[in-house]
Amino acid sequence: METWDAIRARRNVRAFTDEPIAPAALDQILEAAWRSPSSSNSQRWDFVAVTDRDVLTELAGVWQYAGFVATAAAAIALIAPIPDDPRMTASIQYDLGQATMSLMIAAADLGVGSCHTAVMDQDLARRLLGQPDDHMCAWLIGLGHPADRPLTPIRTPNRRPIDEVVHRGRW
Ligand SMILES: Cc1cc2nc3c(=O)[nH]c(=O)nc-3n(C[C@H](O)[C@H](O)[C@H](O)COP(=O)(O)O)c2cc1C
Repeated sequence: METWDAIRARRNVRAFTDEPIAPAALDQILEAAWRSPSSSNSQRWDFVAVTDRDVLTELAGVWQYAGFVATAAAAIALIAPIPDDPRMTASIQYDLGQATMSLMIAAADLGVGSCHTAVMDQDLARRLLGQPDDHMCAWLIGLGHPADRPLTPIRTPNRRPIDEVVHRGRW
């Protein structure tokens, strides 16, 4: 897929087929996250890739809107240091957002759907993923082949009108 097509095709996918993600494809998705830019190249992140069905099923319990993780073929947990102050929080979250979008575009390019979820139950995430006590599971990204939302370029995305959002020169 062309980059522009992958950008236009990406959407949040929460229903997946039983098809596993090829190991090389999962590696490529993880490499996209690894290549992402970060503030001062600080790379305050680790990525835990999960494909074990039992672990995915339990991971779905981290938040009431994480249910789709139970049927995902894989999940990538975005792990980061627990921040000391609001500025560090903002900086880490910005970086994680970039890594998220990179991996989601890479996934779309490979025909793999993806969806974010917040992680409210940090104790459960830590028990399943094993990150150190001074790290949090900031986000989970579920991955799999779409069962309902095809990854083809979306002609009219569900977004505010572009002329309302984009300001040229000044607001
Ligand atoms: C920061 C963030 C948190 C999100 N958390 C969840 C979540 O907990 N559960 C979920 O199903 N979707 C979650 N989403 C997905 C959004 O609902 C989705 O990106 C938005 O509705 C746009 O979807 P679309 O790109 O398919 O149009 C989250 C997205 C972002 C950016």
